[in-house]
Amino acid sequence: MNVLLIGSGGREHALAWKLAASPMLTKLYAAPGNPGIAQEAELVALDIADHAAVAAFCKDKGIDLVVVGPEGPLVVGIGDDLRATGIRVFGPSGKAAQLEGSKGFTKDLCARYGIPTAAYGRFDNAAGARAYVEKTGAPIVIKADGLAAGKGVTVAMTLDEALEAVDACFEGAFGGAGASVVVEEFMTGEEASFFCLCDGKTALPFGTAQDHKRVGDGDVGPNTGGMGAYSPAPVMTPELIDQTMREIIEPTMRGMTEMGAPFSGVLFAGLMLTDQGPKLIEYNTRFGDPECQVLMMRLKEDLLVLLNAAADGQLAHVSARWRDEAALTVVMAAAGYPGMPQKGSVISGIDKSEAACAQVFHAGTAVSDGKIVANGGRVLNVTATGRNVSEAQHKAYAAVDMLDWPEGFCRRDIGWRAVEREQQ
Ligand code: AMP
Ligand code: GLY
Repeated sequence: MNVLLIGSGGREHALAWKLAASPMLTKLYAAPGNPGIAQEAELVALDIADHAAVAAFCKDKGIDLVVVGPEGPLVVGIGDDLRATGIRVFGPSGKAAQLEGSKGFTKDLCARYGIPTAAYGRFDNAAGARAYVEKTGAPIVIKADGLAAGKGVTVAMTLDEALEAVDACFEGAFGGAGASVVVEEFMTGEEASFFCLCDGKTALPFGTAQDHKRVGDGDVGPNTGGMGAYSPAPVMTPELIDQTMREIIEPTMRGMTEMGAPFSGVLFAGLMLTDQGPKLIEYNTRFGDPECQVLMMRLKEDLLVLLNAAADGQLAHVSARWRDEAALTVVMAAAGYPGMPQKGSVISGIDKSEAACAQVFHAGTAVSDGKIVANGGRVLNVTATGRNVSEAQHKAYAAVDMLDWPEGFCRRDIGWRAVEREQQ
């Protein structure tokens, strides 16, 4: 099979690495890709926003499956436009991607189907949102409705902070994404990520993970796209997975089908494990980044077989088995991330790091004068497996220490919750 992978981050490098191992693969292309992905695929300079150009490339090269990594192209309907020309796609339709593209859409679906989630109000003007905030009190959570590159959520501990966040949204801090606002109840508990592969009818559980959103050790400092992750999430017991499937995932699949937008692709549920059971924080309609990196390290199956089955509505006939090991990834970021990451510093020692039994996925790199340089905020994902999270953590940091990149930094405590549990 010829496959086109869309995206350019660490998530896509991990997908490329796993797809390249498939005996079914003839040729892998990636657009736009990155220098790590170039080790597994031929990079093509396609304008992803130009769906007609992507379709023409697919016809020209005889592409049998397009795998879409990030949410942006999905929400604007790349899946619909390619399918309309007869090209097979792994990823949801634009309407189904509203589960990520509009927080209000998802909350309304939850309300209609009794899916456990935080109580909420949905507003298209500041006065209504402010009144709701004042009536409910703090702590409270303010969310821009649309895609805001992970920055549209304010967990407000005081009333003033909440009112400021409401005003910021309606004053355009998140552009069009903040023209509509969800205000919701503050939930407490441990967070976990739960993934399913979906084909419109069947949802196949596809692993658990936990990530670390704050930039600093001890979960302090500004939010980021994720500074590291591990899988499995020990807190997600088989009983909790069953409960999540029954109370959250299955009603979502039913609801999407009933509204004429059956969901296919990856459904990534961000969960809060509360005293009353798992509650949905939000959905993403793609793999997590860096959660995908740890999932791919543990997956025993041929990824291409599974993505094909999802694209063809055949997931009921396949299964997903996992290595009985933990995987952990440490994000190496460029100094200044998440604010103003410095670009252009030279990174060496990646080969030594990989020789230390790790997989180094490229997230934001470029080649300059024949050298690998930083070209983004999150730059490398140093990923290792072990008998448990403690061992995977030890191996990943040993590999991090083989890198020679003074301008890079990482958290030194990725996996701390699971390591604490293992030491009890
Ligand atoms: P999101 O972008 O929706 O994943 O939100 C980012 C982070 O905000 C989540 O990972 C949670 O830590 C936090 N968060 C979002 N919604 C809530 C909520 N209702 N209660 C408590 N924390 C929340
Ligand atoms: N790591 C969180 C995300 O991909 O949304």
